Amino acid sequence: MSSGPPIVNAARIVKRYGAVAALSDLNLRVMPGDVYGLLGPNGAGKTTTLRILSALETPTSGSVRVVGYDPVSRKVEVKRRTGYVPETALLYESLTPREYFEFVASTRELDSRVRDRIAQLASVFDIGGRLDVPIGSLSMGTKQKISIIAAMMHRPSLLLLDEPLNGLDAKSSRILKELILLHVESGGAVIFSTHVMEVAESVCTRIGIINGGRIVAEGTVDELRGLSDGRGRSLEDIYLKFTNEEEFIASAVAKLRQGVPNGPG
Ligand SMILES: Nc1ncnc2c1ncn2[C@@H]1O[C@H](COP(=O)(O)OP(=O)(O)O)[C@@H](O)[C@H]1O
Ligand SMILES: [Mg+2]
Repeated sequence: MSSGPPIVNAARIVKRYGAVAALSDLNLRVMPGDVYGLLGPNGAGKTTTLRILSALETPTSGSVRVVGYDPVSRKVEVKRRTGYVPETALLYESLTPREYFEFVASTRELDSRVRDRIAQLASVFDIGGRLDVPIGSLSMGTKQKISIIAAMMHRPSLLLLDEPLNGLDAKSSRILKELILLHVESGGAVIFSTHVMEVAESVCTRIGIINGGRIVAEGTVDELRGLSDGRGRSLEDIYLKFTNEEEFIASAVAKLRQGVPNGPG
């Protein structure tokens, strides 16, 4: 359960790219033990949020603390305590997974114990036999697993996962869920973005719905249900309501139903 100081404490984050405001006044507090699901439409600001928390992107303004450190001025401390899985695995295609892990471990100055952790993760993801072939020859799902292993091998306090189930089969998705649960049981926290409502509902302790660069609703699924004033609604219904997409969908469906001049065939 939540105890101790927050792992993420971010207040009024603004991130501008020229004229585009990717984040406007985003507030986020994540405690040890939290699995925080970030749900939002394309372009809502999910990736930008995760990149700021992993010290890969600098906010335009606002205050951010990750495990007590400011990711702008204390990048190294933050990178040591976070593990980030990007939306699309960016790996060195000519290296083998083993070489890549060694490389990542050396940049983080990790000791040899990390090898046991890598071996354990490779074994639970069932890729032990693929550690010595070039990454470029691997499937998308295997690349995703490598990216997850690289993010977890230094046992960070905070895992930041950008649509981590992309490309994973059912078995590997289940393994990832178990890894997430174990991670928070031992006092860590996880923030992950997803479009898969069932996953969010099954693993998240809290969900934040993000739209237009700010969190528009937050809470447990039951709390969100209460906020949206709709008992018994699915998370998908709640999500579509908070992102104002119900009307769009209703009108799109109406158009599809009436405007079919020539049916199939
Ligand atoms: N490097 C960038 N340069 C310009 N605009 C960007 C950049 N990164 C993100 N954006 C813009 O910021 C907004 C939020 O993007 P992003 O965080 O990637 O959203 P999400 O991950 O929720 O789909 C979008 O309008 C996107 O086009
Ligand atoms: Mg994204």
